[in-house]
Amino acid sequence: MTARIIDGKAIAAGLREKVAGHARRLTERHGIVPGLAVVLVGDHPASAVYVRSKAAQTEAAGMRSFRHQMPADATQAELLALIARLNGDPAVHGILVQLPLPPHIDPHAVIAALDPMKDVDGFHPINAGRLATGLPALVPCTPLACVILAKTVRPLAGLAAVVVGRSNIVGKPLAQLLLAENATVTIAHSKTRDLPAVCRGADLLCAAIGRPEFVRGDFIKPGATVIDVGINRVALADGKHRLVGDVAFAEASAVAGAITPVPGGVGPMTLACLLANTLRAASAIAGLPVPVISDQ
Ligand SMILES: NC(=O)c1ccc[n+]([C@@H]2O[C@H](COP(=O)([O-])OP(=O)(O)OC[C@H]3O[C@@H](n4cnc5c(N)ncnc54)[C@H](OP(=O)(O)O)[C@@H]3O)[C@@H](O)[C@H]2O)c1
Repeated sequence: MTARIIDGKAIAAGLREKVAGHARRLTERHGIVPGLAVVLVGDHPASAVYVRSKAAQTEAAGMRSFRHQMPADATQAELLALIARLNGDPAVHGILVQLPLPPHIDPHAVIAALDPMKDVDGFHPINAGRLATGLPALVPCTPLACVILAKTVRPLAGLAAVVVGRSNIVGKPLAQLLLAENATVTIAHSKTRDLPAVCRGADLLCAAIGRPEFVRGDFIKPGATVIDVGINRVALADGKHRLVGDVAFAEASAVAGAITPVPGGVGPMTLACLLANTLRAASAIAGLPVPVISDQ
């Protein structure tokens, strides 16, 4: 079998177009221009690239983009003061603090300081709790991206889904979302016994591990859908780098029914979901109905 490639770039472009349409209507009818503030502490080179492309896509969707760059030695108190200002700024509807933060800053304290209504990353304990209890919430963008991509292949109800990875930003919220879609969900991690066998039980396999090409072809049930969240930079012999996922793509695509590529899968969709969350936040803060942008 040769897997169908799930084209994250094209699906993301479609979602961004829908978001831009909703943003235009929000502006025309209610005078609201959704605004996304991105806070970057230090000069992590990969983060700087993400932040630039976030800003460009935010503006292309008819939203305002605010960038706040702080030096690597900024104190936690300074960062919390900036967040307090952004929480109170009516032009800002979404606040994203780019992770990872320098080690002297506690990310939990920073996330807890965000206004949950503006927490477009969906990491605040209020949003995590609302997701877990089935209440409307701002949901983390990468898990949301995974679910939308998986649903382009087939409905998720009743599928055996395995999520490898249990981080607060990907694995756990992804498992919650899949459960809400009525999949039967297993969460695997570094202590899971016989991971290949657990993965082979999956109709839908999501890998969020952070280890290049860790999931091999023989982890995959024939015909399964594979969503590869991993983004790993591996060094090549000529000194250049290449991005690979957590799944060995060539092996996996010989067995799977459908698979996301890296790059061009979950990554672009994550960014589109961030814009969708900013639009949702702007609507909710104004007391307007939250638009249905995708069926998520
Ligand atoms: N596409 C995107 O937009 C996007 C967004 C976010 C992250 N990512 C990528 O997704 C990957 C995961 O990110 P993350 O933040 O969730 O990483 P993380 O916080 O490091 O979590 C990794 C998870 O993988 C598990 N794991 C590690 N080694 C394992 C092994 N040998 N067998 C089974 N499980 C293992 C860990 O288990 P334990 O809990 O037992 O340690 C942990 O739960 C990374 O490559 C990251 O770059 C991509």
